[in-house]
Amino acid sequence: MVNKVIVGAQWGDEGKAKITDLMSANADLIIRYQGGCNAGHTVVVNGKTFKFHLIPSGILYSGKTCFLGAGIVLHPETFQKEITDLKEQGISLSTLKISPLAAVTMPYHIELDGANEKKAGKNKIGTTGKGIGPTYTDKISRHGIRVEDLFSKDILGIKIEDAISRFDLKTTKSELMEKCSEYAEILSPYVDFNWQSTLRKFKSKKLLFEGAQGIMLDIDYGTYPYVTSSNPIGGGACVGSGYGPKMIDEVIGVSKAYITRVGEGPFITELDNEIGTKIREIGHEFGTTTGRPRRCGWFDGVVARYGVLVGGLTQMAITKLDVFDTFDEIKLCVAYKDTRNGNIMYDYPTNAFEHKYFEPVYETHAGWMQDISNCKSFDELPQNAKKYIKRLEEIFEIPIKIVSVGADREQTILL
Ligand code: GDP
Ligand code: IMO
Ligand code: MG
Repeated sequence: MVNKVIVGAQWGDEGKAKITDLMSANADLIIRYQGGCNAGHTVVVNGKTFKFHLIPSGILYSGKTCFLGAGIVLHPETFQKEITDLKEQGISLSTLKISPLAAVTMPYHIELDGANEKKAGKNKIGTTGKGIGPTYTDKISRHGIRVEDLFSKDILGIKIEDAISRFDLKTTKSELMEKCSEYAEILSPYVDFNWQSTLRKFKSKKLLFEGAQGIMLDIDYGTYPYVTSSNPIGGGACVGSGYGPKMIDEVIGVSKAYITRVGEGPFITELDNEIGTKIREIGHEFGTTTGRPRRCGWFDGVVARYGVLVGGLTQMAITKLDVFDTFDEIKLCVAYKDTRNGNIMYDYPTNAFEHKYFEPVYETHAGWMQDISNCKSFDELPQNAKKYIKRLEEIFEIPIKIVSVGADREQTILL
């Protein structure tokens, strides 16, 4: 029995959903443990594209139970849109369950997210605007509305009065109560009030935990404050699912062969030039959730080593290697130089405001200048592509078990 967590090892959009989809074939229960509809997860099967925000990517396999854990935040209207789209694509949601402990994103959380960003001006985070920060803030400050509260009018009334006074809302209590009864109706077919039995039942089966965002967006370990408000790291899987650490056998980090980032915040290997543009165009690097162009840069070995440590990673999946098919030269950052004193650093500098002092130290690799998107085994890859993967493995110091050479489920090399 091997229970796995899928964790983004960079700033999100690493291709976690593709890897989750692959691993779902051998899982019984697939759990989203943190984040909300800020996530945009894409799976391509036989040329057909499926996009997910909250629903675990494992839903594509019929009969697999999918669970949204206590650690997630959920905006019922966005959830409804997602399930409607999926149903239109012929996907059954009969095995989807939602923890009653999950936090509800209310309309005022979304407004507040926008207002906070506007107020911050040039210091904004560049959030997805989905109300993620304010929903988690309410949860942590013990004011949040949980899914179970939607089904209990008395408690809901008290919490709504509290929100109206704390946020000085123009909306009335009855309007918000009405909204919440709509929310209860949307969620009721899926809320698993017997979640304890569900977790017990699956304890002896195969579990797959699907992380959202990435280690560098983690609220504790990421480039704070340019982060999301949850814990995408491997450890987050326990907190957000209700399963303990001994239930996890492997933590698979997912990393692109380069790096992207959406939103604000430091990014030491960023390529604000024609190479970055080339990566963006070939890799279709535009956000799944917001459509924003993703910032692109060379692979960062300092981020990689840091991610293995704090993310608790035990093996890696490398995606989008094919994006480099037309690059005659590929750079790889192995360390940072501190321009204040010339020191070479291998450990990640955690103060985001000091990143302006660091420059990447690169080594240069020769490209392979051929199409690898049909390669089915490691041996079939050109020599220079193999060398690049082997070098990444040296940096990660954990085995690379998967290399992805295209978006489709089939375009995957298992090592
Ligand atoms: P996630 O948020 O980590 O699940 O990743 P996203 O779905 O936001 O972004 C990854 C994008 O890259 C999606 O459009 C995928 O279909 C695509 N993708 C995944 N793996 C590969 C790959 O190996 N090569 C190429 N060219 N595209 C890939
Ligand atoms: P997936 O799961 C990439 C980024 C936002 C912003 C920061 C905070 O598809 O990898 P938030 O709305 O969470 O308060 O925004 O986090 N961000 C993501 N970037 N992929 C994601 O999800 C992201 N979810 C949030 O751009 O910088
Ligand atoms: Mg994404």
